[in-house]
Amino acid sequence: MKGIVVEDVGKYYVSREGFRKKHVIEALKGVSFSVSSGEIHALLGPNGAGKTTLIKILATLLLPDSGRAYVEGYDVVSQAREVRKIIGVVLDVSKGFYTSLTGFENLVFYGMLKGYSYSDARKRAREVLELVGLWDTGAYSRPYYTYSLGMRARLSIAKALLTNPRVLLLDEPTLGLDVESARMVRRLIVDLSKEGRTMLITGHNMYEIEQVANSITIMSSGRVVAHGKPQELKQTLGLLHRVVMVVKGGAEGLVNAIRSDLNVSSVGIDDVGEASRIVLYTRAGREEVIQVVLGVLKKMGASLLDLAIEEPTLEDAYLAVVRGNDSGKHG
Ligand SMILES: Nc1ncnc2c1ncn2[C@@H]1O[C@H](COP(=O)(O)OP(=O)(O)O)[C@@H](O)[C@H]1O
Ligand SMILES: [Mg+2]
Repeated sequence: MKGIVVEDVGKYYVSREGFRKKHVIEALKGVSFSVSSGEIHALLGPNGAGKTTLIKILATLLLPDSGRAYVEGYDVVSQAREVRKIIGVVLDVSKGFYTSLTGFENLVFYGMLKGYSYSDARKRAREVLELVGLWDTGAYSRPYYTYSLGMRARLSIAKALLTNPRVLLLDEPTLGLDVESARMVRRLIVDLSKEGRTMLITGHNMYEIEQVANSITIMSSGRVVAHGKPQELKQTLGLLHRVVMVVKGGAEGLVNAIRSDLNVSSVGIDDVGEASRIVLYTRAGREEVIQVVLGVLKKMGASLLDLAIEEPTLEDAYLAVVRGNDSGKHG
């Protein structure tokens, strides 16, 4: 079952500068991707990529100009009412609350707007405050203006959870948060997905995304430039592993033997005292590198003093596609 399906969605904005002068901005240029039910999917890309526009279309707050999009099978245009019943949305983690009301009072108010009776709204407000960790600390009973950014972000998520939505759309849920608050929000996101929710989150911090997302779509200038699981993305982008080893005896012969078994892109050898330090770059996977290196060492009778295989990071993958896309645009 597909939680979210986006098919060739296009969206442009017309902005007017002064009198008559029109400016057309193509925010989405035919975007397609899908997210399985229950998955945490990350939509990544630099500022202006079109992430917020896409979230707003899925949240039925904006109409697409072309293409189609579905949430749990419902068309976001012709079945917008059904879509609204099953989604929770966070668009700006630092907006949308009455500053002099407490967190609890804010949520009771929004719960009643969503159709809960006063007593049900109170009950549900408490449940979601417990979920996001604002209940036990007593924070729920303090006025909103005293909340830290991290607490505000968690309250925003609590508000989106009021209707117990099957699908959560979170636009930059950790934007502007300090390291510790961001980590709490990430943990919360993972916990919420364990209850079977489909989650779409946007962001641009790879390190954060790598820890929570099951799959990723990278966007740049209104287009999808890469799509896949974090591990797949690293592989399909053909990023190089950096292998560093320190050996005793016959570094040159060793390198030649390794080269005949492994696709190596570049090599450097330097002496460190009695031993040699070999640095090589390869597209081969970790297991293959270990297997070949150990096999060759045994065959050559050399001894290994140290071995490090550095994985390409998702950050590398991201920069590779986003930069690649940018240079394509200008060249
Ligand atoms: N209301 C708007 N009017 C005009 N242009 C807009 C509007 N909202 C967004 N844009 C433009 O559309 C593009 C995509 O914006 P957005 O969806 O906010 O990207 P992101 O969230 O990835 O930063 C940008 O070039 C942005 O300037
Ligand atoms: Mg945005």
